[in-house]
Amino acid sequence: MTAVLSLDRLGVRRRADGAALVTDVSLAVEAGGTLGIVGESGSGKSLTLRAALGILPPTLEATGGIRRDGRAAMVFQEPATALNPTLRVGSFVAGTWRRHHPGASRAAARAATVDLLAQVGIADPAARTRAWPHELSGGMRQRVMIAAALATDPRVLLCDEPTTALDVRVQARILALLRGLIADRGMALVFVSHDLAVVASVCARIAVMRAGSLVEEGPAARVLTEPRHPYTRELLEANLARRLAARPKESA
Ligand SMILES: Nc1ncnc2c1ncn2[C@@H]1O[C@H](COP(=O)(O)OP(=O)(O)O)[C@@H](O)[C@H]1O
Ligand SMILES: [Mg+2]
Repeated sequence: MTAVLSLDRLGVRRRADGAALVTDVSLAVEAGGTLGIVGESGSGKSLTLRAALGILPPTLEATGGIRRDGRAAMVFQEPATALNPTLRVGSFVAGTWRRHHPGASRAAARAATVDLLAQVGIADPAARTRAWPHELSGGMRQRVMIAAALATDPRVLLCDEPTTALDVRVQARILALLRGLIADRGMALVFVSHDLAVVASVCARIAVMRAGSLVEEGPAARVLTEPRHPYTRELLEANLARRLAARPKESA
């Protein structure tokens, strides 16, 4: 199988002083495959995704090999800042669609937009095209961002903590949506989160990062049940502790 995205000893460093922020990350995701990248805050997950998509800030540079086969699109953590507050959400999605379908008519863009909003589970999508971002809930805004990403017809969707800013129930619905979309479209997914349980719920393979490096990578079931690296074990224990603490207390 061919990889839709492969990183070969990817590095990210600061141009000013050459300081390494990401070192020697080699990963690949195949057509229709799902790869989760997990690690604590600051471990280099976002920079790895940005480098893979070619959207690093100008003060940083990537080294090593980055190969994409087909289009990649990204969904960010904070839909409130990723959406343009001065555009109705329909215009935002339609604008993205039109950039990827040059020469298409306004009517075609409108029809495609309504269809995309429906695909991401937005009820009454034709009416919703006229909503402003601030009129929507966080979950709805994230659905709009996913619709805009799908407007480019990507072969791989890169998600950077797309549910971290959402409450647990909304998070579960967005994860279910993503699972459905990747299955229906045969799209590949790279899903970044600090939360191992979230990553495991959508990804067949899991990569663990720490301090800018990859510590292990493998099938999700194996990583969760037989972690090879002590840091992965630590993450698993922290995750379990967090979940137990969050469990509603039993009344005595
Ligand atoms: N634009 C930047 N300039 C300099 N350092 C950065 C920049 N962005 C991130 N970093 C640093 O690179 C490291 C990895 O960051 P990041 O990829 O955002 O981590 P994560 O997404 O895993 O939380 C962190 O130490 C962070 O402070
Ligand atoms: Mg990040």
